[in-house]
Amino acid sequence: MSGPRFRETIARALEKRSFGPETNLIRLIDGAGDQMRGHYLESYGEGWMISTSGAGLNADLKTALSEYEKPLYWKRLDQHQKESPVHLSGPEMPESFTGLENGLQCRLSFQSGYSQGIFIDQRDNRAKLRALVKPGQTVLNTFAYTGFFSVVAANAGAVTSTLDLSQVYLDWARENFRLNEMNPDDHYFCKGDTFHWLRRFAKQGRSFNFIILDPPTFSRDDKGKVFRVEKDYGALFQLALACLAPGGSILACTNFRGMSSADFEEQLQEVSPRGMHFEHAPMPSDFTDEAYLKSVWASR
Ligand SMILES: C[S@@+](CC[C@H](N)C(=O)[O-])C[C@H]1O[C@@H](n2cnc3c(N)ncnc32)[C@H](O)[C@@H]1O
Repeated sequence: MSGPRFRETIARALEKRSFGPETNLIRLIDGAGDQMRGHYLESYGEGWMISTSGAGLNADLKTALSEYEKPLYWKRLDQHQKESPVHLSGPEMPESFTGLENGLQCRLSFQSGYSQGIFIDQRDNRAKLRALVKPGQTVLNTFAYTGFFSVVAANAGAVTSTLDLSQVYLDWARENFRLNEMNPDDHYFCKGDTFHWLRRFAKQGRSFNFIILDPPTFSRDDKGKVFRVEKDYGALFQLALACLAPGGSILACTNFRGMSSADFEEQLQEVSPRGMHFEHAPMPSDFTDEAYLKSVWASR
């Protein structure tokens, strides 16, 4: 693509997306969905991040993006996950800054390795949880990362339990609560393996009105035991079912591209009691490329 073509394509992609002032965590260009295969541009608050594979960013593309005068960063998709994005043009972002999703604030960083502090492809699922949950209900957010599912649920009046292997992310989640003027001490934070905690909750007879399951495709727990979405999701879902309150819902997600939505639901069906209701949720409208994120709201 030449410089003018890049300009046109970028402008068209931006025009397609209209979000109000309450949300600035947006996928602005979604690869082939915006005629730019392999290129993903996201806004994180004031900052823009372009993600591509390969050793360098096309110079014409860089120039076209720089003309927006935003803090522009580039992330290599084929690089080791812990690599932070590289600053390309515009002002530099501070080490820690905030973004907005439906009026709620999230702490972000372009220097934290793995990810920026939020997975924006989960925006609509978070909005749905926030709309469904009633004050006083309980929400268990497993594989919670920086806890934004917990933040939206707590904002709607829920009592949340946020569970992750990483203390760094649990501390980050607590900060996200404080950013939104909620006291994290009114909620629960559990460090450790999701499988372990689900078994423990079931043994204690603890149950939750909503359970969020959004595991990485591959994970190893603190004892070295491996979890693979394609063969272990059913077992994970079964453990969650044992902790689900009557009338409750589990949001089961996976971004594993090697499995269809139908195969995913089949794994869930296999371990579910009769009468369970399954509803598939689409990806947010700014994700116009392949719908890689499979989301099933399973209710009983
Ligand atoms: C794909 S992210 C989850 C994204 C999150 N649900 C969200 O929407 O922001 C993976 C997270 O799972 C955590 N994790 C990985 N294996 C885990 C395990 N066995 N038990 C608990 N957390 C785990 C990681 O520390 C990381 O924060």
